[in-house]
Amino acid sequence: MSTAVAHPNIALIKYWGKRDDDAILPLTGSLSLTLDVFPTTTTVTLDAAADGDAAVFDGIAATGAAAARITAFLEIVRAAAGVRTPARVVTRNSVPTGAGLASSASGFAALAVAAADAYGLGLDERALSRLARRGSGSACRSIIGGAAIWHAGHDDATSFAEAVPSPALGMVIAVVDAGAKAVSSREAMQRTMRTSPYADAWVRATAQDLDAMMDALARDDMTAIGELTESNALRMHAAIMGSRPPIRYLAPQSIALFDAAAQLRAEGLEAYATADAGPNVVLVCRDADVDDVRDRLAERAPTVRLVAAHAGPGAHLVPDASRSG
Ligand code: DP6
Repeated sequence: MSTAVAHPNIALIKYWGKRDDDAILPLTGSLSLTLDVFPTTTTVTLDAAADGDAAVFDGIAATGAAAARITAFLEIVRAAAGVRTPARVVTRNSVPTGAGLASSASGFAALAVAAADAYGLGLDERALSRLARRGSGSACRSIIGGAAIWHAGHDDATSFAEAVPSPALGMVIAVVDAGAKAVSSREAMQRTMRTSPYADAWVRATAQDLDAMMDALARDDMTAIGELTESNALRMHAAIMGSRPPIRYLAPQSIALFDAAAQLRAEGLEAYATADAGPNVVLVCRDADVDDVRDRLAERAPTVRLVAAHAGPGAHLVPDASRSG
């Protein structure tokens, strides 16, 4: 029995588009901050007596596509371990699943670490990142604490995340809608690449944004970090909106939060907005400004749940829980 904890990450430079759907190799690199809020805790127990894998998410047995995705992932782990034993997976999420709050990232990062341990694979951080990537691309970055770059790579061995030096950054998560989204990011990503006339431009621009972001982090240039973050997110959403049939994740309230970030900047507080595949908006700022940003945003958006977040740890085993039987 092995238990691991992982936290979501929010990308400053987004991953959107695969060159290989099966191995989950991305078209471009991306860069994110792993947070200290909304942990996922996953326990994997091998069960030689079971007919097959079983997965329980927040007390509810997984079925259908969700269960199949867990088994497909465990098959990768079993193939590497040379073991056929089924597993029981028990997951507790503190983030609303499917709401664009990166639950698949923390989910597969925690599962990768717990399953690798349960099946006796002695994997280092890079190998764990590669493994987590096979479950959900963005999960490879939640293996790493704090700021992480996911190198696009050209094959399984070269596509992994690792830590990057960064100034201390923080985030304020604005939960616009905690319900499940209409189109999954996996499907929307495929549709964007297949049908959006802006897909190629997105890929080219993002490769440049990633280089520029690495420079901005190294220079500790908050303005450049923030402007690149906000622009890269809007470019991703522009490419998504160009899909047919169209997909639009940003809600009126999301746009209002981008405006609110601009107002905070006009008042001299550096905060920049980003959004993943959903209506929630995340403000990025210097870590020291997180409370200020949250409080000043609360004045402008009193009905929106705001969560202050800081850089968090990479996915890791929880030794005591795994020994407690
Ligand atoms: C918008 O990692 O969920 O959050 O690899 O198909 O599982 P799959 O996709 P996923 O996509 C995340 C996309 C994003 C941007 C990002 O986190 O970089």
